Amino acid sequence: MTLNGEPVEFLAEPRQTLLECLRDTLHLTGTKEGCGDGNCGSCCVTLDGNLVTSCLVLGVEAQGRSVTTIEGIARGNDLHPLQKAFIEHAALQCGICTPGFIVAAKALLDAEPAADEERIRLWLANNLCRCTGYDKIVRAVQAAAKEMR
Ligand code: FES
Ligand code: FES
Repeated sequence: MTLNGEPVEFLAEPRQTLLECLRDTLHLTGTKEGCGDGNCGSCCVTLDGNLVTSCLVLGVEAQGRSVTTIEGIARGNDLHPLQKAFIEHAALQCGICTPGFIVAAKALLDAEPAADEERIRLWLANNLCRCTGYDKIVRAVQAAAKEMR
């Protein structure tokens, strides 16, 4: 598959999830496992540009396709506006949910640069955070959206 713009090859057991392949085989541990059953959003990546929860995708399903993880969001040392905004708005505490929120928010803003607060809240409803209370996350995404526009 193509991973963050680079071709990669690996073997996957038929039962292995894409999340397991990313973390355990390819050693990209930015993508987090929260629930493991599609409910928390901490494992979000994009597959051919579409947002997916990588715990619900098999590694073999990624064959020949393009995957972007949190490690592919920054450009070298230049953080993405979403990453900067999360820092500036203190939109993270323990950070376990953060990669998933940023990948999910980027997928939204790439498709809908003018997304308003209601749309952002609805889009991120499948991403759970047990620390921040969500408001700072939404403010950060709104600030990043403004910056990106
Ligand atoms: S670990 Fe995949 S949705 Fe929770
Ligand atoms: S910052 Fe801890 S779960 Fe979101």
